[in-house]
Amino acid sequence: MARPTLSRYLVEEHRCAGCVPADLNFLIKIVARACLHISVAIGKGGLGDVLGEAGSDNVQGEAQKKLDVLSNEILLEANEWGGYLAAMASEEMELPHLVPNRFPKGKYLLTFDPLDGSSNIDVNVSIGTIFSVLKCPDNADLSTPEAARQAFLQPGTAQVAAGYALYGPTTLLVLSVGRGVAMFTLDREHGQFLLTQENVQIPVQTKEFAINMSNQRFWEAPVQRYVSEMLAGKEGPLGKDYNMRWVASMVSDVHRIMTRGGIFMYPMDEKVRTQGGKLRLMYEANPMAFLVEQAGGAATTGRQRILDIAPQDLHQRVPVILGSREEVERVTGYHQGAA
Ligand code: AHG
Ligand code: MN
Ligand code: MN
Repeated sequence: MARPTLSRYLVEEHRCAGCVPADLNFLIKIVARACLHISVAIGKGGLGDVLGEAGSDNVQGEAQKKLDVLSNEILLEANEWGGYLAAMASEEMELPHLVPNRFPKGKYLLTFDPLDGSSNIDVNVSIGTIFSVLKCPDNADLSTPEAARQAFLQPGTAQVAAGYALYGPTTLLVLSVGRGVAMFTLDREHGQFLLTQENVQIPVQTKEFAINMSNQRFWEAPVQRYVSEMLAGKEGPLGKDYNMRWVASMVSDVHRIMTRGGIFMYPMDEKVRTQGGKLRLMYEANPMAFLVEQAGGAATTGRQRILDIAPQDLHQRVPVILGSREEVERVTGYHQGAA
């Protein structure tokens, strides 16, 4: 039997579980279409005008790459006319983008990290797009972009869908509409995503960890303890040898964990303490935590379940520890013990 397309998967989810309303179904297909376009743009590499610096900074003071800006534009343009969204928010924009008045407004909000892993763009290492869908509150004030910020400040538990596209040797779309996680592979000849794995489950245990070791001297005691125990290997208290991987594209590191297990940490450290952490809650930590939990894993800050955080700001940063449940629980326990 031919593999189901993303469209068919969504229609069947709508029919049998009723958990994908028709308008959410269309919204997700438009996001997937935008990811396909981003994938094509990335694929041009040095043959197109897509590599290098954009010459501007984003709201977080980070230098934007041309592909950060282009991916943001592709997502905005693809999504603003469909009639399913009220507003969008992105890593690359200080304020939400309201759906222009010439288009009908819908009942959802979309947040995204248009291009994750920017430091890997110019060296041809896997990068991605992360997105999250929320319902727009009925009484939301969408009169100005400033006012619209408030509508987005919902905890991760309120997400109705989340996903990421991974632009690697193959382009993948990994999606959850709240009933497990499904993976789709881009069929480049036909320009469509085909279902390649359903009911993704992250192994409960792992021997693989992902952390930027160059930050070691800045970590807090619980992470110092945990990493030193892993490095001690078989002879240490954890009784097994661990391996380490760090791609520095969150999408790629999380995808490895979705596929074969592992633990990913961008914990609180002295370098990022004043800004609350490194990774952004609304368009990095929350969608990834949603996917990881839907696949049987866990995601915390070390002190709190990520999906329970009540956001204070659109661009809020948080510490992130996610992946195989037993390991996330262990290091979260070390934080509790330290408290
Ligand atoms: P972005 O490219 O969207 O700004 O995100 C980069 C993030 C994340 O993808 C990755 O895990 C982390 O930054 C890498 O940080 P280091 O460069 O400190 O390793
Ligand atoms: Mn990112
Ligand atoms: Mn980004």
